Amino acid sequence: MSDSFIVEWARAQQPKAPNMKNASVFYRNLEEELDVRRSQHGCIMLHTKEQTSMVDFSSTDILGLSTSGSVRKGYLDELAKHPDFKLSSHGSRLTDGNSRYLEGIERELAAFHGAESGLIVNTGSLGNAAIFSVIPRPGDAIVYDELIHASMHDGMKDSLALYRKTFRHNNAKSLYNVLVAVQESQPQIRNSIQSVLVAVESVYSMDRDICPLQKLIKTAKEVFLEGNIQFIINKTHSTGIIRPNGTGLVYALGLESKTLAATGAVILYNNTVRMMLINYARSIIFSVAPFFPMLASIRATYQLLRSGEAQEAQNRVQEIVKFFLETIISDPIWSKASNTGLLRLPMYEDADIQSVLIQIIQLRTRTKHNFYLAFHLQRAGFLVFPISYPVVPKGTEHVRIIFHASNMDTEVKVLVTAIAEWAQEILEIKSSGDRQRVPAAARHVYALIAQANLNGSE
Ligand SMILES: Cc1ncc(COP(=O)(O)O)c(C=O)c1O
Repeated sequence: MSDSFIVEWARAQQPKAPNMKNASVFYRNLEEELDVRRSQHGCIMLHTKEQTSMVDFSSTDILGLSTSGSVRKGYLDELAKHPDFKLSSHGSRLTDGNSRYLEGIERELAAFHGAESGLIVNTGSLGNAAIFSVIPRPGDAIVYDELIHASMHDGMKDSLALYRKTFRHNNAKSLYNVLVAVQESQPQIRNSIQSVLVAVESVYSMDRDICPLQKLIKTAKEVFLEGNIQFIINKTHSTGIIRPNGTGLVYALGLESKTLAATGAVILYNNTVRMMLINYARSIIFSVAPFFPMLASIRATYQLLRSGEAQEAQNRVQEIVKFFLETIISDPIWSKASNTGLLRLPMYEDADIQSVLIQIIQLRTRTKHNFYLAFHLQRAGFLVFPISYPVVPKGTEHVRIIFHASNMDTEVKVLVTAIAEWAQEILEIKSSGDRQRVPAAARHVYALIAQANLNGSE
C-alpha cells in the first residue's frame, strides 16, 4: 500500500481553488477552505487499504478476535439461531427499534461490567452526545481532563451545564485545584444542591497513557465530602484493563466502545440514568436503534470474553509490547537517537516497563521526519501510519505502532532493526554536515511524486 498511499497523499495536497476561476462560487469557496489545509500539507484523504502482505502493526484488531475466526463463528451461530432476523432495526428505540434481543444483550453487558444497567448505542460518539447533553443538569459543573476525546468535547457543546473547566492531563493536583475553585465560585455546588461531573478516559487514545483513576477519585472525595460528584469514564480503549472502583461515594458512569471485534458502544450506569437518556437524549430518540447484525457481533465478542478465550491473547499482547520496549531500548543506536531527540517513546520515558503496558505505542520523532519514518517502515514491510496535524496538535506528530496478539517476536525484531537503520541514516547525515543529502525514504517519496506528475496525473 505504501507507494499508492504516498501518491494519493501528495495529490490531495495540490491546491485546487486557483484553477477554478470559472467554476461555481459555492464549490470554489469550499475548495478555498480545503486549500488552507493543503497549503500546510494537512489535507486529510481517505485511503483504501489493499490486501497486503505487510505485517500488521496498525489495525485495532488487537486480540485478533476479528480475524481469528472465533468471533465470526459465534456471530454466524447467532444468525443461525435467529433465522428471521431483520437487517434494519425499523425505527428508533422508542418505536419499532426496541427488542427483547437488544435488551437481553444490554443486561448481559451490564452484568459483565458489574453495572446495574446498560444502553447500547450505534457509536461511541452518539453515546457521548447523549451523555453530555442530558446527564449534567443546568447548574452542574463539568470538569474534564484536557486530553479527552473529540466526541466528548462535541457532546459538551450541547450540554446544559454551562460551567466547564479543564484540568491538566492525568494530574490529581490540578484536578484538586479546579475542584476547589468550582466549590468557591459555585454556591449551589458548594451547598450540595448541584453536582460536579468529572470526565476522563481510562486509556487515552492518542497519548496512550492510563488514567490514575483511584487517585482522581480519592481527590474528588477529599474535596466533595457530601458526595455530589460523579465520574464519566470513557473506556473505549481499555476493556479488561481498568475498572472504576468508586466505593459508594463516587459513582461511575461509563461509556464502553470499540468492543474488540464489533462496532457500537454501551453506556453503563444505573436505571435512573437509563430513563434520563431514553427520555431526553436526542441522539437516541431521533436515531434508529442498533440493528440485529451489530448486536449479534457484540454478543459473539462478549461470549468470547466471558469464556476466558481472549485471556491468552491479552497476555500475549502484554508480552509483545514489553519485548518491543526491551528490544528497542537495548539497541545500540537507541541511546544516541533518544539523547539527541531524534526518537522518543514519550509514555515510557519515566515509566517502569513492568507496569501495565498499553498496546498502542507512539514513536515520536521530529515533525519534519514523521512522515518519512512511517514511509521507511512501510517500505521495510510494516503496516504503520503517521499520525499528523490536524489529528494531533503540532509538535506531537508520531508514528503509531499497534501491537497484536498475533505479532511474532521475529517481526518485532525486524521492526526494531528498521527503526534503528532509519535513525542511523539520519544521524549519519546530520554528522556529515552534508545539507544536500536526502534520506532514502524521502528520495523515494520525491521520485514517486515526480513520476505521478510526469504521467499526467493531477
Ligand atoms: C476515546 C474514544 N472515544 C470515543 C470514540 C468514538 O467512538 P465511535 O467510533 O464508536 O463513534 C473514539 C473513536 O475512536 C475514541 O477513540
